[in-house]
Amino acid sequence: MANRDSKIFAIVNRKGGVGKSTTAINLAHGLSRQLLRKDSDGEWEADGHVLLIDFDPQGNCAMALGVERGDADLGELLTGRQTLAEAVVSADREDAGFPRGNLWLIPSSNSLADAKQEVILGNFMKMMTARQSRGEIPLLDVLKDKLGALRERFTYIVIDCPPTLDALSNAVYHLSDAAIVPVKVDYLSAAGAAQHVTDIRQAQTDGIEINIDLIVPTFYVSRQVLDRQILDALKETYGEGRVAEPIPKAQSVAEAPAYQGGATLFEYAPDSPATVAYQSLVERVFNNG
Ligand SMILES: Nc1ncnc2c1ncn2[C@@H]1O[C@H](COP(=O)(O)OP(=O)(O)O)[C@@H](O)[C@H]1O
Ligand SMILES: [Mg+2]
Repeated sequence: MANRDSKIFAIVNRKGGVGKSTTAINLAHGLSRQLLRKDSDGEWEADGHVLLIDFDPQGNCAMALGVERGDADLGELLTGRQTLAEAVVSADREDAGFPRGNLWLIPSSNSLADAKQEVILGNFMKMMTARQSRGEIPLLDVLKDKLGALRERFTYIVIDCPPTLDALSNAVYHLSDAAIVPVKVDYLSAAGAAQHVTDIRQAQTDGIEINIDLIVPTFYVSRQVLDRQILDALKETYGEGRVAEPIPKAQSVAEAPAYQGGATLFEYAPDSPATVAYQSLVERVFNNG
């Protein structure tokens, strides 16, 4: 168990407000908890570390976790102005009663958009001078370089992706082991997810190795007939095995990021049905290796 292969999960959906950040944050925290075990003295010990990377320039993850980001910034890392040690911050908030000793974050800010331009431009210049063939994915080298180093240190890397499908997202897909797609259970969102999965399949045929597309139905209200029908339709479309247990729509999900300056569901509402559903997602991912 200590030697689990490192895994990178991209949480993706081109729509906003479907639960990407919520899923990324709670999956990352849940996995970090899963890696804890009691040693012979009854002390908690971490069998591995988890890194959450906020790829969304809106930078919600640090705030939702109540983490002081300081200067740490994904954009600065990508442009080479920060080292990994400078860009990664601890998500531990033991002082607030939230011990998260093995959870880490690379926060993001709206400078990410500029950084992207800069790295793309740099890649382009390099391409021109080296007269390399066209059609390469810009940014990929940079990301590969950075994420490669991260793989050595973290058992799980969870990437909260922005709702765009640009060069950066493509590069992230390329480097991830699996795409997890939260889908808000309403008719239009489900239709959008179909398009998204088609995009991922296209990426696969283009030689991008991205494994499973696990669909996570979100905002699920089991007593609503339409929600149950859409859940069935998702299973029919993607296969029962690719649809995770639905995450119920729950007030606690929206409240957690404001509790004590930023709590996850496991900290704010351990018994909420939404927390139970996220825990089941965590175990599913954890038990898959
Ligand atoms: N299962 C849920 N039940 C209730 N509210 C939710 C649920 N999942 C997410 N939310 C809320 O919906 C909003 C959007 O979720 P978020 O995770 O930020 O989506 P995205 O990252 O896809 O834009 C947030 O306010 C969040 O707290
Ligand atoms: Mg988000």
